[in-house]
Amino acid sequence: MKMDLSPRLVTLAPAAPLPEPESPDRAARDELQTLTKRLAYDPASWGEEDRAAMTRRFDRLAESWATRDHPDYRYPLADALARGEIAPRGLCIEVGSGTGIQTPTLLDHFDAVICIEVAEQMLRHTPEGLGIALLADAAQLPFRDRCAAAIVCVNAPLFAPEYARVLASDGAVVVVSTRGAETPIFISPADTLAALQRLGDPTFGATTARAGPGTWTVARRAGNGARVAEPPPDPKDGQ
Ligand SMILES: C[S@@+](CC[C@H](N)C(=O)[O-])C[C@H]1O[C@@H](n2cnc3c(N)ncnc32)[C@H](O)[C@@H]1O
Repeated sequence: MKMDLSPRLVTLAPAAPLPEPESPDRAARDELQTLTKRLAYDPASWGEEDRAAMTRRFDRLAESWATRDHPDYRYPLADALARGEIAPRGLCIEVGSGTGIQTPTLLDHFDAVICIEVAEQMLRHTPEGLGIALLADAAQLPFRDRCAAAIVCVNAPLFAPEYARVLASDGAVVVVSTRGAETPIFISPADTLAALQRLGDPTFGATTARAGPGTWTVARRAGNGARVAEPPPDPKDGQ
């Protein structure tokens, strides 16, 4: 038999699997975005029904959640810590840690990381030894006032009064949306800052940037490295 030696284009499989879209379901994305914005400005409206629905939704997704891990998925947080000039020390509270995809980045940066999850199945699918896992509701953090150097939310809701209560005077709230305004649990940089100023502490300022496929916002109280006094532009503008 004659071998075919003609030049061909050979395509190998991608070296890293492409990230799975977080929510191909637009209705689900819109529903979560509406809820997230409502919670940012009206955290007291978070009730038992909301909590139960959120828990059900993410308990169901827990088994396959780790398949979202991809360098693009981790990049916006890494950039937020670096360009957001987050001090590499102290206690970090990771809100809505899921299965811990972002936790190694935080463990490399802070002295200690406590992972808060409302969905038990997410914690069950978190590799052992990744931070200190706590089944709790971020709307009522089980911590004393001003103990955290950072509160980090990657695609997780913002409860402004509670985060302001727990955040150290010189601490930072870090909000990351891994797919920018396409992220289902999304709070725009402008809404992040406005909610923190209105419901947390009027001295909050923030820095924001796009990073790879995502966006991030780092908010601090005045005199602690906050560089933007006015709400930053909404990333939806100009897209
Ligand atoms: C979109 S997932 C993001 C998971 C993880 N941060 C990541 O980057 O892969 C949002 C997570 O926030 C959790 N969550 C939502 N509301 C919460 C609350 N009130 N308290 C604690 N966790 C919450 C959900 O259970 C879910 O696991």
